[in-house]
Amino acid sequence: MTLKVLTLAAESAPLVKVGGLGDVVGALPRALRAVGIDARVAIPHYPAIKSQAESLGIALKRKGRVSIRWGSHAHETESAPIAETTVGGVPHYLLGGPPFRPPDKIYSTTIDDDGPKFIFYSMAAMSLCRELDWQPDIIHVHDSHAGAAIYWLAAKGKRESFWRQTASVITIHNLPFQNNHAKKYLALAGLRPSRDPRLPMWARDGLMGLAIACADRINAVSDGYAAEIMGEEYGAGLDGLLRERADRLSGILNGLDYAAWNPSTDHALAARFDAESLDHRAANKAALQKACGLKPDPHVPIIGAVSRLDYQKGFDIALPAIKEALARGEAQFILLGTGAAELEASYEPLLTEYPGAASIHLRFDSALANRIYGGCDIFLMPSRYEPCGTSQMIAMRYGAIPVARATGGLVDTVWPYRAGSGVGFLFGEYSSAALLRALRRAFRVYANGEAWRGLQRRAMAVRFSWEKSAEQYAAMYEKALREVLIRRKA
Ligand code: GLC
Repeated sequence: MTLKVLTLAAESAPLVKVGGLGDVVGALPRALRAVGIDARVAIPHYPAIKSQAESLGIALKRKGRVSIRWGSHAHETESAPIAETTVGGVPHYLLGGPPFRPPDKIYSTTIDDDGPKFIFYSMAAMSLCRELDWQPDIIHVHDSHAGAAIYWLAAKGKRESFWRQTASVITIHNLPFQNNHAKKYLALAGLRPSRDPRLPMWARDGLMGLAIACADRINAVSDGYAAEIMGEEYGAGLDGLLRERADRLSGILNGLDYAAWNPSTDHALAARFDAESLDHRAANKAALQKACGLKPDPHVPIIGAVSRLDYQKGFDIALPAIKEALARGEAQFILLGTGAAELEASYEPLLTEYPGAASIHLRFDSALANRIYGGCDIFLMPSRYEPCGTSQMIAMRYGAIPVARATGGLVDTVWPYRAGSGVGFLFGEYSSAALLRALRRAFRVYANGEAWRGLQRRAMAVRFSWEKSAEQYAAMYEKALREVLIRRKA
């Protein structure tokens, strides 16, 4: 019998993408289908999807409505319009309704916007399964947004024979974003805060905490992150609960789409290359220096960074280290990204302080991003925390060597350089000094052309495949189903 998996998430690329979560939801269900699983996706129908779908030439079909319990009285209902489409061979259901009013933001900063939106959508997705008479074996929720689906399944759904066999899974991509204090909006769906003593009081009406407390299996997007979130430093207040549930928790690394990220077919690059034609890469470096107003110099290493500039990504500690390296003429630096205004403002002056050595681009520009991956020598990822991380995988594929903080997925993907092995450089302590030391280790190897070549070849040969992740997810689904069997017997 084919395993049926309904994926619930706030993003699915290319229909709607804010960050790495969207890429994962765009790729994983496809890889699951390739191993024989009937994987489908249900996402919120944000008004902005309309124009995105049109520009991609993806047709959205209307498919009636479902009705859900919604309101302060048990007899009150609300109806959700359904649209349907197929993206990359994966059926997608889009659930709309009154909480989705234009102008919309995918994420707001208040639970008063996101609570009703995401809870309504979660309930509508569950109701849709019954309407389609499509009985999922697994409800797979990514991050907190559809956490109410898992909570509802545990608190109410399992009383219905339709849902009795269904297991639930939550994948944690970013633990601090929890959608807490949703009591008022859970109540609209007929749900009360949890009384689970393993949940801290403040998390008993939080969508992340509820999902983690009730899911049959929990996974984080790397082994490293799965281990870190059980401790206080990375646990975002839920580390106690995660420790209690350690037997249900595992890590599965995300994959990378190696067909989409390929320096031998990438038309954004001045010269295409692969591991056998690494010599062509020099043309990309020269073109990048020219386009970015850097001194044309094939010998100086370029440090590249493509990142959101926010608390998570570590660009506060990067600034003093970069300045020091620039002041001593040890490297050139190119930054592409947007984010926190203070951080943006702190990098802008580099342009005038180090003319010809620093190039700062505070905007979104996917072609420039590819040129940085394909032309810089060292790729910077000083993350404070990094559940998995995608950029280091892309950089490696493009022969740019990561210098990264030893946290989360970066530990699982950037194996440290030792003579003749390894693919990058890691530092542990969250400080400018530790980062600078790691950069200098990279500069020293860079100065030895032969050793650097070997490093690049090894990095380019690494594959984090979606096939492998899909097999691990399939094994986790089997485990989750066994948990349900055990639960039913108990
Ligand atoms: C989040 C994490 C990032 C991860 C991505 C996809 O954005 O911050 O590390 O790669 O989710 O799982």
